[in-house]
Amino acid sequence: MNQAIALDVKDLEVRYGGIQAVRGISFSVNPGEIVTMIGANGAGKSSTLRAIAGAVPHAGTIRIGGEVIRTDHPEEIVRRGLSLVPEGRGIFANLSIEENLRLGAWTNREAYDVNLSKVFGLFPRLRERRNQMAGTLSGGEQQMLAVGRALMSRSKILLLDEPSMGLAPKLVLEIFAILRDINKAGVTLLIVEQNAVMALRLAHRACLLELGSITLSGSGAELLENPKIRSAYLGH
Ligand SMILES: Nc1ncnc2c1ncn2[C@@H]1O[C@H](COP(=O)(O)OP(=O)(O)O)[C@@H](O)[C@H]1O
Ligand SMILES: [Mg+2]
Repeated sequence: MNQAIALDVKDLEVRYGGIQAVRGISFSVNPGEIVTMIGANGAGKSSTLRAIAGAVPHAGTIRIGGEVIRTDHPEEIVRRGLSLVPEGRGIFANLSIEENLRLGAWTNREAYDVNLSKVFGLFPRLRERRNQMAGTLSGGEQQMLAVGRALMSRSKILLLDEPSMGLAPKLVLEIFAILRDINKAGVTLLIVEQNAVMALRLAHRACLLELGSITLSGSGAELLENPKIRSAYLGH
């Protein structure tokens, strides 16, 4: 078994011109773990995930499986087994489900059929609708497609940006149950959420991001019990 830390982030900074969105944060994710980062709108959660996935420039050090990432090329990062499921899902509305999944397999074409049947096994609804245009899917189905597409590159680490956003409560439960299954199958997860309760219940470890800095960290259960989290994010 690989003992290296799956993802190690040290002194990460992200700037957009004069705005410093992420102010030198450090955290790590162990193999097989679910870590969640919660925080209000604008805290810098998406910027953190985008920086790790190579979608925005950063300062600081990012290691995947112990190796320092020296590139901001998303392609290179996906090859190392890390994929981002972006905020708003980023699927192609005018392509079918299967065409979207094929795009997810661009770094790993040899295993296409095997990966496709695995993804369809996780999401039977996608199999039934494989030729349907993605834009006609419900919000929950689009989120399943976005997760399925990331899994097509046989990722060992998935970064999920607000997977529950815009979904009805029943679908939120369904998506979180699927994330638990994906993790049980051996995929390491870093989940960013505003839905703090669901995320903290699912996560092994968690941190709170405020104005670009980590201000609290601990187990998911510890953060759920924390008075500050309870009043600011759980409404009691
Ligand atoms: N492309 C961008 N250009 C300029 N500022 C940005 C950009 N993306 C995000 N920001 C700013 O960076 C800060 C953090 O944003 P973001 O990472 O999206 O936070 P969160 O995902 O926690 O809501 C915010 O102040 C936001 O306005
Ligand atoms: Mg965001």
